[in-house]
Amino acid sequence: MDSTPAPRTYRVKSFGCQMNVYDGDRMAELLAEQGIAPAAAGEDADLVVLNTCHIREKAAEKVYSDIGRLRREDGSVPLIAVAGCVAQAEGEEIMARAPSVKMVVGPQAYHRLPEMIRAASEGRRVTDTDMPARTKFDALPKRRRSGPTAFLTVQEGCDKFCTYCVVPYTRGAEVSRPHADLIDEAGRLVASGAREITLLGQNVNAWTGEDARGRTIGLDGLIRELAAIPELVRIRYTTSHPNDMTQGLIEAHGEVEKLMPFLHLPVQAGNDRVLKAMNRSHTVESYLRILEQVRAARPDIALSGDFIVGFPGETEAEFEDTLGLVDTVGYAQCFSFKYSPRPGTPAATMDGQVPLEVMDERLQRLQAALGRHQHAFNRASVGRTCQVLVERKGKHPGQWLGKSPWLQSVHFTGEVRVGDIVDVELVEAGPNSLGGRLTPPRT
Ligand code: 5AD
Ligand code: SF4
Repeated sequence: MDSTPAPRTYRVKSFGCQMNVYDGDRMAELLAEQGIAPAAAGEDADLVVLNTCHIREKAAEKVYSDIGRLRREDGSVPLIAVAGCVAQAEGEEIMARAPSVKMVVGPQAYHRLPEMIRAASEGRRVTDTDMPARTKFDALPKRRRSGPTAFLTVQEGCDKFCTYCVVPYTRGAEVSRPHADLIDEAGRLVASGAREITLLGQNVNAWTGEDARGRTIGLDGLIRELAAIPELVRIRYTTSHPNDMTQGLIEAHGEVEKLMPFLHLPVQAGNDRVLKAMNRSHTVESYLRILEQVRAARPDIALSGDFIVGFPGETEAEFEDTLGLVDTVGYAQCFSFKYSPRPGTPAATMDGQVPLEVMDERLQRLQAALGRHQHAFNRASVGRTCQVLVERKGKHPGQWLGKSPWLQSVHFTGEVRVGDIVDVELVEAGPNSLGGRLTPPRT
């Protein structure tokens, strides 16, 4: 067993969803607290954390090729930790197949990285895929830095067990973080510069907690409390499940001005037989009814969703129902994926696995339809003047990029700073972004 010097620099590479981005940032904060510095761009790091995603495709294969690529020209390797959902699902295999990996750490155990790094530096290989009762959130350092937009994980895990999905196995059961911790973390983020907070959860609208007076509240209650933080200007949340879309949350969209007019509500398919086989426990009609109510509460709301094409047994006619649903809703933007069999999930062994060519062709047609709707939504925004939160410099001199309330990317030129909220008239629409003109602030 070779011991190696304690690492002085680190790099965290996160793949997959926004929750992984949040986890990656928290791991970085944890490592920084241990006196390990981020490696400079272009320089080798002593410690590399691969924060992996297991939701689709050949996730594990990708991890092995990433590990291979970490070997340096002189043949040496950094201290490698594999974190995230592939670590949780396939930790043992990774340890067996990739001797250069010294640490495997699951998404609920990464607060223990400092001890693991000490053990690994002494030459031991360590795996921790526990889901401890005392959550990582209690053990992680307090947050002290933030850009203008920040993520805040409020809920993790999933009890829904859609038949295609690996999340209930890799992230565990639904757990809500306590109300007081969230108010504290949000306050710290805002004090360190956040003007927009996106509340994150695999089923974020299943969040529930007890407020300071001991009353049980849902996500709408939490949103209303956060809205009272004066310097916080925008609140968003993602991802939601249709079955947890409460009346209170729908009403909040009409009543809480800081809650942005955007709802990401995955439906996955536009056919009831397929939804049933997916164990989605909602129908096309019940989904549409929710959207109708949300639109009644907030008429300008931008809608977004997730779709899977080629679920086992999906026929051409059933797929066309999905296209029909897309046209009925008129989404502002969406994510769409080919079905990917995940080991250990019920759908992976179902009859009627759809050939790849068929999935490719369906995905193309679906994405063409979604693209048309997205472009139409953007075109319909032209002529509006809206507030844009400035996020970063654009590619061209003097150009800035920010987000509209409807989560559209907007570019414009002018004298602004990152974190400003400015009035912009939307003047041209592309499929993926809008061009705007800075207008003087309204008085
Ligand atoms: N295959 C393809 N897409 C999937 N998703 C989840 N599991 C799978 C899978 N096995 C998609 C769903 C979900 C999003 C996060 O990823 O659309 O909403
Ligand atoms: Fe996966 Fe379904 Fe849970 Fe979403 S609701 S994380 S798709 S099991």
